[in-house]
Amino acid sequence: MKGLKDITHEMKSTFKLYCVIGDPIDHSLSPMMHNSAFKFLKIDSTYISYRIPKNELKSGIETLRNIDISGFNVTIPHKIAIMKYLDRLDESAIRSGAVNTVQNLRGKFMGYNTDVYGFMQPLHKRKINFTNMNILILGAGGAAYAIVTSLSYEKGISEVTILNRSQDKGLDLVKHGSKLGLNCKFQKISYLSNITLNYDLIVNATSIGLKNEVSPISAKYIKKDSIVYEIVYRPIYTNLILNAKQVNARIIYGYEMLVEQGAKAFEIWTGRKAPIKTMKQSLLGVFGEPK
Ligand SMILES: NC(=O)c1ccc[n+]([C@@H]2O[C@H](COP(=O)([O-])OP(=O)(O)OC[C@H]3O[C@@H](n4cnc5c(N)ncnc54)[C@H](OP(=O)(O)O)[C@@H]3O)[C@@H](O)[C@H]2O)c1
Repeated sequence: MKGLKDITHEMKSTFKLYCVIGDPIDHSLSPMMHNSAFKFLKIDSTYISYRIPKNELKSGIETLRNIDISGFNVTIPHKIAIMKYLDRLDESAIRSGAVNTVQNLRGKFMGYNTDVYGFMQPLHKRKINFTNMNILILGAGGAAYAIVTSLSYEKGISEVTILNRSQDKGLDLVKHGSKLGLNCKFQKISYLSNITLNYDLIVNATSIGLKNEVSPISAKYIKKDSIVYEIVYRPIYTNLILNAKQVNARIIYGYEMLVEQGAKAFEIWTGRKAPIKTMKQSLLGVFGEPK
């Protein structure tokens, strides 16, 4: 018969704890997505949300080390600040200058950026050809850095235009993209409506849409056969997506990137193939995939 010591030893050796850190964190869909994957594959692990305010990151990371967390995701506002508390960084993190996933390798924290992979997957799944493509990115925050980094792996892109409310941040991102070999330029936000018809791929990497704001681009300024990639995932139908639908543009939804970046993190942590269908279902519920 097993004694308590054996049982606790077994629990320790199989049970693993994961989390997402950020502030605010209540809205995060990651616990639902990862817990559904653990359950589906019968993996003895749990994923929780852990709110760490901006000025408490150092002590928050110490706590995660003390409890020997197996891995965690990182979201606003820590994606850049976290880097100095990690022991190692993989190429995606170094190249993008931000981290959204951390793996605990026998006490050493290793940082990755799975947004770089997650952004590109929906485009690759649609077999998008980037040759001579003109791309417009709205925003210059953490997500936009991962997106520009992701695009830098693709061949043949003609031009990437960054449009951001704060010019200095936009110009910094242009510098980042140019260093990675992209033909990048900055455009002031006041020129938005005049230029959007020139683009084959438009990415909204701002948080406009989260609060149901008016779309940053009206329907008449979206090219019919262009691709509109919305990275805001809640609500699923932002006003930008509704406008893109009006002109029959191709749409990529924010939840697609969310699932792909989560699947990559899951595979880094567990070494198992992520059950993408289950993870997607946990987000979309009974309503299924939007058309
Ligand atoms: N689908 C996914 O997997 C995924 C992954 C990562 C992030 N996201 C989503 O992407 C969004 C951006 O995330 P982030 O990490 O890049 O955030 P962030 O670092 O805080 O950057 C926010 C960006 O939005 C701009 N912005 C915010 N409010 C604006 C407004 N009212 N008007 C114009 N510009 C505005 C900011 O411009 P300024 O520079 O001028 O402040 C900045 O460029 C969030 O909604 C996040 O949930 C989705």
